[in-house]
Amino acid sequence: MTFYITTPIYYVNARPHLGHAYTTIVADVARRFHQMQSEEVFFLTGTDEHGDKVVRAAQKEGLAPRAYVDRISQLFRDLWPNLNVQPDHFIRTTDPEHMEVVRRVLQKIYDSGDIYFSEYEGLYCFGCERFYTERELVEGKCPDHQSEPETIREANYFFRMSRYQNWLIEHIQAHPDFIRPERYRNEVLAFLREPLGDLCISRPKSRLTWGITLPFDERYVTYVWFDALLNYVSALGDPDGERFRRLWPVAQHIVAKDILKPHGIYWPCMLKAAGIPVYRHLNVHGYWNVEQGKMSKSIGNVVEPLQMKDRYGLDAFRFFLIREMTFGLDSSFSEAALVQRINADLANDLGNLFSRVVSMTHKYFEGVVPEVDPEMARQFGLGLGSEALPTIAEYARAMEAFELQKAMAVVWEFIGRLNKAIDVSAPWELAKKKTTIRQLEAVIGSLLRGLRLIAGLIYPVMPDTAARMQKHLGLDPGAPFYRLEDLKLWQPIPAGTRLPKAVMLFPRIETAAAAEADPPVKAAAAEIKPEIGIDDFRKIDLRVATIVNAEAVPKAKKLLKLDIDMGERRTIVAGIAEHYAPESLIGRQVIVVANLKPAKLMGILSQGMLLAAGEDAGPVLIMPDKAVTPGAALR
Ligand code: MSP
Repeated sequence: MTFYITTPIYYVNARPHLGHAYTTIVADVARRFHQMQSEEVFFLTGTDEHGDKVVRAAQKEGLAPRAYVDRISQLFRDLWPNLNVQPDHFIRTTDPEHMEVVRRVLQKIYDSGDIYFSEYEGLYCFGCERFYTERELVEGKCPDHQSEPETIREANYFFRMSRYQNWLIEHIQAHPDFIRPERYRNEVLAFLREPLGDLCISRPKSRLTWGITLPFDERYVTYVWFDALLNYVSALGDPDGERFRRLWPVAQHIVAKDILKPHGIYWPCMLKAAGIPVYRHLNVHGYWNVEQGKMSKSIGNVVEPLQMKDRYGLDAFRFFLIREMTFGLDSSFSEAALVQRINADLANDLGNLFSRVVSMTHKYFEGVVPEVDPEMARQFGLGLGSEALPTIAEYARAMEAFELQKAMAVVWEFIGRLNKAIDVSAPWELAKKKTTIRQLEAVIGSLLRGLRLIAGLIYPVMPDTAARMQKHLGLDPGAPFYRLEDLKLWQPIPAGTRLPKAVMLFPRIETAAAAEADPPVKAAAAEIKPEIGIDDFRKIDLRVATIVNAEAVPKAKKLLKLDIDMGERRTIVAGIAEHYAPESLIGRQVIVVANLKPAKLMGILSQGMLLAAGEDAGPVLIMPDKAVTPGAALR
C-alpha cells in the first residue's frame, strides 16, 4: 500500500504562520498514521514562488525576486523540522525540473487544442492576479482585497475549462469522497451549477516577467495557478517512472477552504486535459481565526507558531491544533484555550493516568512488571482488552477520513476508561490483603497494556510523548512500538520489565489569572458550632476532585458551573464567579462535599459543594498541595 499526501505550496510573500503550520502538521500526522500501517508514504510540501504578488513583496524589501524567494522559502523549509514535521520532499516552483514539467504539460494541452488565444477585456484584481466577473464582486469590489478591480484589455491564452464541466460533475457524483468533508463537495457542485468559463492562463511579459515562459509563445509567462498546481505532479519526477506510477493514483491533497476552487475545479480539469488521472481525495479544512477576524499579515495579529511551541511544548501545541479544530470547520485560536486543553486533556487525563499506573507498579511491585496469570487477566483485566479493538478500529477509520479531532476523542475516551477502571478496582485496597495480590497483578498488567496502546495511538500527533511513554514502559527504544497490527494484539508489557520511576508527562500550567484570583489569607472569625462526635463527622463524604471544565452561568453574576472528575463526572454550581476566572480553575483540584443533597441552581442540578475559606474579600478555595487521585477520600 502507498500513501501520497501534499500540502499547498505556500506563497513566499509572507512569513510562515499558524495557518501554514496547521495544514502541514495535519499532513505530518497523516504521514505518521499511514506509517503505523507500514505503508510506503510520500509527503510533499514546498513554496509557490512566481507571480506579481511575489515581485511586489520583493520590491518592498529592495531585493531581486530570486534573492527574495530564496530567503523566504528557506524560512518555510527551516520551520518544519522544528515542528517535528518531516516532509519527504520540499518543492519550489522555481526548481528547473518543475518548470520543465509545466512547459511540457502546457505544450501537450496546446497541441490537443484545449488552449486558444483571444482578446479579452475584463476586470482585473492585481492583488488576486486574476480577472473577476461582475457577479463575483461585492459592491463592485474584490471580496478579498476590498479594492475596485481595474478594467484591462489584453490578448491572452485561455484553457478550455468549460469543456470539462459535465465530466467533472459526473466524476464528483460518482466519487462521493473525492472532495471531503461533504460541505465542500456541495460547495463545488453548487458552483458547477453555473456555466463554467474558460481560464486565462497567461500573463504578458510587458506586465510580468517573473514566471514560466509559455513554450508556444515567448511573449508570455504562465498564470501562477497553472504553474503551482502542477507541483503535485512534477514532484514525482518522470510521469513514466516507477515512483509516479506507484504514488500518483493514491494522491491526496490537504488545503484550506480559501483555495477550494483552484483545487476542486481548475486542477481536475487540467489533469483531465493533460491525460493524467485525477487525484483521489481533496481534504479541505476551515480557517483558524485569531480573536474576531481571519488571521492574516495585513491585520497584524499573526500568531507565531514557534512562540506557542516554545512556551508550552511542541507536542502540546500539535495536540491542541489537532484536537481543537473540527476538520472542515473554522476554529478560534487563543492561548487560554490552549492552556485549558493542556491542563484538562494532557496534564490531568493522560498525565495523571500515566503517573498513577507507573507509581503503583513501583509501590506494589518495586517497579517490576508482574507476571499475570492468563485466567486472572481474563477475570480481573477490567474488560479493557475487549475495548481495545473497537477503539483501534474507530480511531483508524477517523484518521483515514481526516476526522482527526474525532480520532483523538476516541483515544481520550479510552484514557477515561482506564482512569475509571482504577477508581472502580481500587488497587490500593487489593494491595492490603495477600488474597487479592493475584487480582492486583491482573489489574496493573491490564492498565500497563492500556498505556502501551495509548502510546501507540498518540504517536502521529505527539511523537515525542509517545516515545517517552515507550521508554518509561520499559519497551525497547530501538523498536517501533506504534505499528497498528502490533497494537491490535493487545500485548502486555513483558513480565520482569523494570520500569523507570514515574514522570510527569505534562506539568499543569498555572495561569496568571489563577494566581491573581487567590486573595491573601486573613484570619476569619470562627462561627461557633455545636461539638460533634467523630461518627457525625464521618457522615460527611469529603473527596478530592479535579475541575475539568468551568463556565459562567448565564444571567448569574456570582455563579460558575463546574464539571468535576471525582472518579465519576459531576456538575457543581459554585458562588465564586466574582473571585475566580473560569479558565483559571480548569485542571485544578478542590475538595468536594460529595454526599450533599443535590440542589437546582438557575436550572442546573448541583451535585455537591466545594470547600472554601470564608474570607471577607471573598471565598478562597481549599486545594490539595500536591496532585491527588481524583475521588480520593479525606480522612
Ligand atoms: N500558493 C497558494 C497555494 C498553491 S497550491 C498549488 C496559496 N498559498 S498560501 O500561502 O496563501 O497558503 C494558503 C494555505 O495556507 C491555506 O489553504 C491553508 O492550507 C493555509 N492557511 C493559511 N492561513 C490559514 C488559516 N488562517 N487557517 C488555516 N489554514 C490557513 O494559497
